[in-house]
Parts: sequence; C-alpha cells; structure tokens
Amino acid sequence: MRWPRRRPGRRRPARARLRQTSAPRPPIVGRLLWRPSRRSPRQRLREPARAVLTATAAVALLAAVIVPTSTVMITDARDEAATPSATPAPGLMTPAAPEDDDAPTPSPGAIDLNTRSIDDPASIWVVVNKVRPLQPVDWAPGDLVTVDVTSNPGGDQMRAEAAEALHRMDQTARDESGQGITIVSGYRSYERQQSLYAAYARRDGQAAADTYSSRPGHSEHQTGLSCDLQQPDASCSVCNQFGSSPLGEWLAGNAWRFGFVQRYEAGQEHVTGFMEETWHYRYVGVDLATWMHEHDVHTLEAAFSLPDAPDYP
Ligand code: DAL
Ligand code: ZN
Repeated sequence: MRWPRRRPGRRRPARARLRQTSAPRPPIVGRLLWRPSRRSPRQRLREPARAVLTATAAVALLAAVIVPTSTVMITDARDEAATPSATPAPGLMTPAAPEDDDAPTPSPGAIDLNTRSIDDPASIWVVVNKVRPLQPVDWAPGDLVTVDVTSNPGGDQMRAEAAEALHRMDQTARDESGQGITIVSGYRSYERQQSLYAAYARRDGQAAADTYSSRPGHSEHQTGLSCDLQQPDASCSVCNQFGSSPLGEWLAGNAWRFGFVQRYEAGQEHVTGFMEETWHYRYVGVDLATWMHEHDVHTLEAAFSLPDAPDYP
C-alpha cells in the first residue's frame, strides 16, 4: 500500500477557519440586552441593578466571543509554524500570517522555487533528464563521502549533505519499517555511466536501454544526489518488487521527511522518460521534498514547470 499524499486544498487556510469560528453570533447576547418587562413595581425597583448586571453579563459574553477568536488566530499561527516546511531554510519563504482580506492566503509550505539553481550541477535542485544534460557533461562533485547505512556492500558514495540525510533516513526506517536500507548504487562518474549504458545497450538494444538507463551526462547518479536502494533480504536487485516491501512502502510515504523524492514514478514515464523505479531516490532537501509532498507534485519537471522529457533530442 502506498501512503497517500496530501491533496492540495485539503487543509483550509487559517482565514477560512477563523471566519467559520467567529461568524455565528450567540442569540443569548440579544436576549440579555433587551427583555420585555412584566415585572411587579417591587421587582422594577431592582431594575437599575439588574440592568447593570445585565450589561456586565453582556460585556462578559461579548468578551467570551471575542477572546476565543483571537485565540484561534494565535493557535492557527502556531499550527502553521509547526509544519516542517515552515522551518526557515536559506532563501526559502515561510508563509506570512494573513493580515487583511485582500492578501492572498499562502498555503502551508509555500516556497520560492527560484531560490536555487536548477541548472548548476552543484545545486541540490539541479534537474537532469533526457533533455537537460549536466553542464559540463563530465561534471563531478567535490564533496563525496562513503554512505553510512545498514548495508553498503559496494562502498558507494554520495555528496555529504545527501549522505547525511540518507544516514538519518536509514536510522528512522529501521525503527518505523523494521527494515534497514541497503544502498546498491550512489554516485556514478560520467565514465562509469558510459560503460554501464553501453553494456545495457549491447545486451538489450539501445531503445530498451533508454527506458531504464541514462546516457552518460544525463544521469542523476552523476550529481552525487541519487541512490538506488533495496531491502536487506531482496530476492532481486533494483527491481520494482521493492516498492511493495515494508521498506519500499515506508520510503514511498516518508522519504520526503528526509529530503528525498522517488524520481521515477509509475504513470510519469511521459514526463521523466524512464520506467518506474521504486528503488531510485533523489535528494532535493527537506523544503522542496515537503513542498512536493504537500502539493502532490510527482516530478521535478512538474515542480519547476519544465517541459516533459520523454526522449533525447
Ligand atoms: N536508472 C536511471 C534512469 C539512470 O540510469 O540514471
Ligand atoms: Zn538509480
């Protein structure tokens, strides 16, 4: 079972919740302010005192109506701040509290998608696909470290920030899914991708290879931000059965918490140009991964309004 993504618009903006809370006026206020007099003269002698008490009660009730309204605003502000995406990161916008009726109400997790480059190979938001090769094509990261997860039989490396996030994801996966992460492929150089792709093309033909293996210079693995993962007792390596393992299901629902997205999803082949790869995760940072999760965005191409990349030019 895949974890459901939050659909856009599910969470009502703070302003809407505020309006609904404050709109109904309790009819008891009106009754306290005016009441037809059928009292005896003796009773009427007490009217001034009663009027004072009535007015006091009315003020107290009005205050009771107004004070919770303010409290709702504060509570809502706290709720918004508690969302992971509200944690300020360099260059990212946090949602502002609504001030007036004309201001648009930002959705939770709003981010500025222009903050980081999608072209610079060193950017964690770089978008690499069949129409967007790395530039230069033989670019290599300068901060590779060996990944520390439950199992790393090949001693695979990733960029330091991504490796640290993967390490934390592994720790949590062990607790929450019962399975630790095995990495079967991390950073791959231009030359490594060249020989891999050539081997696949020889074995299966170029057209078939192009559905599952990137040509050199076009692979996310060359960024040092992507990894192929599997569960410890995998009956097959890098196969889509992984998606229905406890770890595969957990990753599909939780990788965003650690800044990873599943890069090649089923149903997105026309956008990414690749078949489903339940094992291939890409680090983009917690802010973007959270935003994509919250807004039901499935590809980096869609996130950045880029053209689909089904084929090489
Ligand atoms: N398997 C992915 C598409 C790659 O080779 O980069
Ligand atoms: Zn991969």
